Amino acid sequence: MPANPLAPSWLSVPEDANALPAAVWSTNATRAASGELTVAGVAASDLAREFGTPLYVVDEDDARGRARAIRESFDREFARIGSTVKVYYAGKAFLSVDIARWMNEAGLNIDVCSGGELAVALAAGVDAARLGLHGNNKSLREIDRAVGVGIGAIVLDSPIEIERVAEAAARHGRIQPVRLRVNSGVHASTHEYLATAREDQKFGIPLPEVSDLVAVIRSHPSLQFLGLHSHIGSQIFGTDGFAEAARRLFEVHAELLATGPVPELNLGGGFGIAYTSVDETFPINELAASFADIVSAAAARLDVPVPILAIEPGRYIIGNAGHTLYEVGTIKDVLVDGIAIRKYVSVDGGMSDNIRPALYAADYSARLANRSSSAEPALVRVAGKHCESGDIVVLAEYLPADVTPGDLLAVPATGAYCWSMASNYNYLGRPPVVAVRNGAARVLVRGETEEDLLRRDAGLDAS
Ligand code: LLP
Repeated sequence: MPANPLAPSWLSVPEDANALPAAVWSTNATRAASGELTVAGVAASDLAREFGTPLYVVDEDDARGRARAIRESFDREFARIGSTVKVYYAGKAFLSVDIARWMNEAGLNIDVCSGGELAVALAAGVDAARLGLHGNNKSLREIDRAVGVGIGAIVLDSPIEIERVAEAAARHGRIQPVRLRVNSGVHASTHEYLATAREDQKFGIPLPEVSDLVAVIRSHPSLQFLGLHSHIGSQIFGTDGFAEAARRLFEVHAELLATGPVPELNLGGGFGIAYTSVDETFPINELAASFADIVSAAAARLDVPVPILAIEPGRYIIGNAGHTLYEVGTIKDVLVDGIAIRKYVSVDGGMSDNIRPALYAADYSARLANRSSSAEPALVRVAGKHCESGDIVVLAEYLPADVTPGDLLAVPATGAYCWSMASNYNYLGRPPVVAVRNGAARVLVRGETEEDLLRRDAGLDAS
């Protein structure tokens, strides 16, 4: 079948529009003999019947497995070069009490970037010593709470914050371990909004100013300097950007070693994942080996000991473990510029449960979930139900042409930054999250009802 001229050049007509490419879908996603999608043994139609749609479905063993795998690979590779690694799960990608517990049980630390995320991690019973706090504008209350509960590390992001954290630590009679976030100036090859280490942005301290600020940190008896931190961006493929950031950071790291201890180096997160069948990611073993090589080479070049490495992946752990299940509502064949037909398939969610296509032009893929079909593939755009033309879930995908109202669609790789960035736009309740494992599903986070939405509206108080 010829490609639809409206399709982007990267998207080819699939041989099988029911296939579930392994790099994109969770490990336990498969087609049952009936053709239906099942995740960890739970059929899509059963999930929709029990919990409704839209629905976030997380493959629990997949998420736990990736968390373990990343820790084991980095442990092994850093043991090879005579060092150790602290892996932090970046909670901003997707945090709930259960997810925090999974990460804890997999031996990961957790990185939080607000009082709310801190509260969830603590509610999950995670030892505060295994948490790290981020943010370019932590409130005094957030700092006070974090220091008060004995948080393992605070990543300082401005000169003002050095004083604030030092004061809070002194008040609590603690010596607070801190890192200093550095803007390495490395341009990560990713969407502009996802690149965080360009010069003209809010995060971190420019490299030339770092030494003086570390001297300030070291002058406070209530602070313990752990080392430098850099996060160059998100959804990054390859390790060139990390290597360049490490090289630049090591120059300062080595200089700082002349005046005091610098036991650790944090290279952040940002490892890219596959959203569509054309995205090629690094196997975790290769990624870990590459990081070990980068760090040992940088240390050797300056003749300094290999520090303890810290990393903070979020998306890489939870992204492909999550899927969103939608029900198809309406379908329209739209003739575009007289050239060809684009089938608009509208589902019962959209930019309120996945803002990423609208915000970053992020590509996703989709599959029929309640059944397979041998119909010819047709180019579709999966649209949401919001009052905005940019409300798109999947910009371009081939689905069987007989897709019809009432069908279920599953969008894979929605585990990261979908639920955590969800909104109530147009007064849609945020969907529930369920975990599936060994043929059973359980709710991780309840969905919002209209009652929930009205409960916060003070307009009803007087009546
Ligand atoms: N560490 C720091 C300091 C970060 O700012 C982030 C992400 C991470 C680690 C984790 O990055 P990951 O490994 O998950 O890529 N909303 C955007 C992503 C924003 C990322 C913000 N910081 C998206 O939907 O793509």
